[in-house]
Amino acid sequence: MTVQTPIQGDIQTQIIDAFKFRHATKVFDPERKLSDAEIETILEAGNLSPTSFGHDPFRILMIQSPEKRELFREFSWGANGMMSGTTGQLGTASHFGIILASTGALMTAGSEYLQNHYRTVKQLPDEVIEMFNGAYGQFQSKDHHITSDREITDWSGKQAYIVLANMMTAAALMGIDSCPMEGFDMDLTTKTLADHFDIDTTKWKPAVMFAFGHRAAEPAFAKTRRSVEDTVTWY
Ligand SMILES: Cc1cc2nc3c(=O)[nH]c(=O)nc-3n(C[C@H](O)[C@H](O)[C@H](O)COP(=O)(O)O)c2cc1C
Repeated sequence: MTVQTPIQGDIQTQIIDAFKFRHATKVFDPERKLSDAEIETILEAGNLSPTSFGHDPFRILMIQSPEKRELFREFSWGANGMMSGTTGQLGTASHFGIILASTGALMTAGSEYLQNHYRTVKQLPDEVIEMFNGAYGQFQSKDHHITSDREITDWSGKQAYIVLANMMTAAALMGIDSCPMEGFDMDLTTKTLADHFDIDTTKWKPAVMFAFGHRAAEPAFAKTRRSVEDTVTWY
């Protein structure tokens, strides 16, 4: 297959062409691997994503070992190529991974984890940390009512989806295909991460899976969307 690159013309055209190029790829060409530089760029783009309060409530697991990938197959219908009758994204992607979302154990206002994050990652002085604790505490308890472990994990998951969106856009701009996937059993995926990946699932829960590589064939269906007139309202 010839290498496709959406990068042509002016910046507006390049951006829209990249978004049109991206589709949820079910089957990748197993012979075409991403270079180290390409996957590093994708991961760096994800890592540079904005997160609420700058809490970075996500982790990215890269799962390259075929044996490790197979652990998810039975209960990950969305990573199985769906109706394509192939080994799907799990079996063919150059790079496959899972983004984890931080639970309430880490992301509750005032947690030890956050104090450490403010000090060591954000390098904030004590008085600003106090401010953050107060503001984030109010945000959780009063503004957004994010107090249960489930609500906090879902909030972290929202940030994880921004990370993935940026990774997919970065990939598309380089002519690299991708697939976001949430077609998996949450409980069994969580258990697999605990049993086989040494993940403390009281602190980290799966949010979304992803795959990168190069399409094995052109998309089976044309891209359809509601019109911009329908989705956007101007005042
Ligand atoms: C959060 C999310 C989860 C998705 N889960 C799956 C999935 O498990 N398996 C899959 O093949 N596609 C999955 N998709 C792809 C969508 O079905 C696809 O993006 C949509 O139908 C539009 O098609 P397009 O992306 O090719 O334009 C997912 C998309 C998103 C955004």
